[in-house]
Amino acid sequence: MTKLTLAISKGRLQADALGLLRQAGLRLSNDSLSTRRLAIEDESGCYRLIFVKPADVPVYVEHGVADCGIVGRDVLLESEPDLLQPLALDIGACRIVVAAKSEAICNQFGMLRVATKYPGIAAKHFGARGIAVDLIELSGSVELAPVLGLADCIVDLVETGRTLKENGLSIVEVIAPSSARLVVNRASYQLKAEAVGQFIRSLDQASQRRANGD
Ligand code: PRP
Repeated sequence: MTKLTLAISKGRLQADALGLLRQAGLRLSNDSLSTRRLAIEDESGCYRLIFVKPADVPVYVEHGVADCGIVGRDVLLESEPDLLQPLALDIGACRIVVAAKSEAICNQFGMLRVATKYPGIAAKHFGARGIAVDLIELSGSVELAPVLGLADCIVDLVETGRTLKENGLSIVEVIAPSSARLVVNRASYQLKAEAVGQFIRSLDQASQRRANGD
């Protein structure tokens, strides 16, 4: 029996990813999920799940420590890892946006101060428009930066829009839509072809059923 190791993003994607994996046939007991263990096995013994920070999912999969991973497209756009991305999944839908206190903020002259958890995406976005930016890299609560005068605007994720609204910010521009992706290690795709292929098919069917509301 070939065992697959799956790296799952902790945080906002985790519950939906586990629900989808269950729909795809993984047998995950409530007992094992309720612990703080960072690695668990499904009851069939075919899958091991490891729970890691979103930005670390591509790292584990690229190094082959995990065969597959479930992670947001935002993370993949930022780190551009060398991985296969066979499936877009019907979970974690959100948008990567530029947001500010005023919609006109990005039209002003001079160096634009941009606070973000996504320096790569922000640099590429403003670079393509020839806008000079001073990137201020933060690791969370990015919406505070324009409110407190640390930055003119932010590049961040918006899901419901509630965080922006409650902090007096609005969307200036949508950079890209995002949702969860299945990523696969290139060597695992070849060497564990049967197990990986079966997993991709099951997950695809589960994701489609979910998209259709079944
Ligand atoms: C994300 C994102 C926004 C918020 C958007 O942060 O960076 O702050 O969620 O969600 P909403 O549109 O539904 O309000 P996260 O909760 O991951 O925490 P962080 O601020 O620590 O990064």
